[in-house]
Amino acid sequence: MGRVAIRTVFTELMGVPHPIVLAPMGGSAGGALAAAVSNGGGLGLVGAGREAREWVTRELEIVRGRTTAPWGVGFQSWSSKPSDVQAALEYRPHAVMLSFGDPGPFADAVREAGARLVVQVSDVDEARRALEVGADLLVAQGAEAGGHSGRRSTLSFVPVVVDLAGPVPVLAAGGIADGRGVAAALALGAVGALVGTRFQASSEALVDGEVVRAILEHSGEDTERTRLLDIARGAAWPARYPARAIRNAFLEEWRGREAELERDEGAKARYREKAQAGDLSVLPVWASEAIDLIRSVASAEDLVRLLAGEAEEALRRAAGRLGPEPPESRPG
Ligand SMILES: Cc1cc2nc3c(=O)[nH]c(=O)nc-3n(C[C@H](O)[C@H](O)[C@H](O)COP(=O)(O)O)c2cc1C
Repeated sequence: MGRVAIRTVFTELMGVPHPIVLAPMGGSAGGALAAAVSNGGGLGLVGAGREAREWVTRELEIVRGRTTAPWGVGFQSWSSKPSDVQAALEYRPHAVMLSFGDPGPFADAVREAGARLVVQVSDVDEARRALEVGADLLVAQGAEAGGHSGRRSTLSFVPVVVDLAGPVPVLAAGGIADGRGVAAALALGAVGALVGTRFQASSEALVDGEVVRAILEHSGEDTERTRLLDIARGAAWPARYPARAIRNAFLEEWRGREAELERDEGAKARYREKAQAGDLSVLPVWASEAIDLIRSVASAEDLVRLLAGEAEEALRRAAGRLGPEPPESRPG
C-alpha cells in the first residue's frame, strides 16, 4: 500500500498531520519539547503546571521561536489565575488546555483570543462542565495516566465521553505509549491521543536523567496512585486527584497513613530535606501504567512519527481482519 495518513476531525481542526498531542506536563514539557512535537507533526503543549510566571514566559518564547507549526499551552485550573492564562495568550498559542478544576473562569479569554479551548476531564460531571463552557476539544483522561487523574479507566471512559460530547471531538489520554494505543483511541471513537509519560523519555524533555532511567527500568506494576507525595511536599492538590508515581521507599513507609502524614510536620520537613537533595527514594517520579512500553529515549520529533506510523500499521492490521461473513454463519 502507498503512503497513507490518519485523518481525523482533530488533524483538520488543528491543521496538523498526526492525531497526537503532547500532554502539557508541568515543568517538563517546556518550549523545546513542545516545538519538537509540533515539528514532528503533532501538537505540542507547554506545561505551565505550577511553575512560576518567569518559567512559563521563557518556555513560551522558546516554543514560539522554534516552530512555525501550531502549538499550545496547558494550565491546571485549580492552581491558576485568569491573569496567568491571559499572559500566555499574549504569545498567540493555537490551543490552550485546562485540566483539573473548573475551566469556567478562563474559557472566555481563551475563546476571545482565538485559541482552541481544550479541556481535560476525568469524570462525567467534568465532561458536562467542559461542554457547558464551550470547549472545542475534550480530553477524556483515564487513571492509567502518569501524574494526577480521576478514577475512571481509559478503555471504558473514552467512549462514554465521546457519546456525551456528540459533535465535540474527544482525545483519549492515559496509558497510551505506543502506536497501538493511538489506534485503540481511534477505535474508541476518539479523534486522537494525548500522550504524556512517553515524552518524558525524549531528548527534549526537561527531566532529570535519573527520572528517565527509572521510567525505562520499571513496569506498570511498580506504579501506584497516591496522595502521599502531594501531602509530603505541601502541594494543595484537591483530594479527588491522586497521582500515579513509581513506588519508592517513602510510599512503602507511609502507604495508608495519609491523615497521620498531614499532621506530622517533622516527617514533612525530613521529606523536603531529602527531596531538595534530589533523593529518588522520596521524590515523585510521575509515570504512566504503560511504562513497560517505554524502553528507549528518542527525539520527540521522531517519536511523533514513530507513534503515527505504528498507529497506521495497527489500524491496517485490524482492518485486515475484516472479511466477508462465512456463509454457514448467516442466519436463516
Ligand atoms: C510528569 C507528568 C506531569 C503532568 N503534569 C500535568 C500538568 O501539569 N497539567 C495537566 O493537565 N496534565 C498533566 N499531566 C497529565 C497529562 O495531561 C496526561 O493526562 C497524562 O500524561 C496521560 O497519560 P500518560 O502519562 O499515560 O500518557 C502530567 C503527566 C505527567 C506524566
